[in-house]
Amino acid sequence: MSHKKEGVCFTCTPEQEAALKKVIADLKDTDGALMPILQHAQEIFGYLPIEVQTMISNETGIPLEKIYGVTTFYSQFSLQPKGQYRVSVCLGTACYVKGSGEIFKKIEELLGITNGECTPDGKFSLDSCRCVGACGLAPVMMINDEVYGRLTVDDIPAILAKYE
Ligand code: FES
Repeated sequence: MSHKKEGVCFTCTPEQEAALKKVIADLKDTDGALMPILQHAQEIFGYLPIEVQTMISNETGIPLEKIYGVTTFYSQFSLQPKGQYRVSVCLGTACYVKGSGEIFKKIEELLGITNGECTPDGKFSLDSCRCVGACGLAPVMMINDEVYGRLTVDDIPAILAKYE
């Protein structure tokens, strides 16, 4: 983990903390409560930094190692914050054979982050994804809800520059 860039510092508002405590109080005595608690926590905070996992452990009595095991196993959970602009490159088969791996590398190089990370200013985060159902436009990437298709590596600097 030490190679990771420092992300945006984690901050927790009293409202977020109260919302999390309420979710835990409502769910904690039901079977299999951990998954829904984590899902709600991610909705409240946007991601699940270790500070949030520790709060959940303290409130539920579930060991932190167990919580960490779940959050790192399921790809629906993010331990890193997402950027204001969420860049997502499709590495599904149709996109991959048309060069989306190279596009992904170019974005890593330009933003200085890798899969699952967020730039220190909180502006961009980068993720790979599976087929987004736009194979006819391969290779495809998305920035928030905007879809970019038939990309070449040379298109990438100008596209990212629009969001700078
Ligand atoms: S494989 Fe990329 S959109 Fe289908």
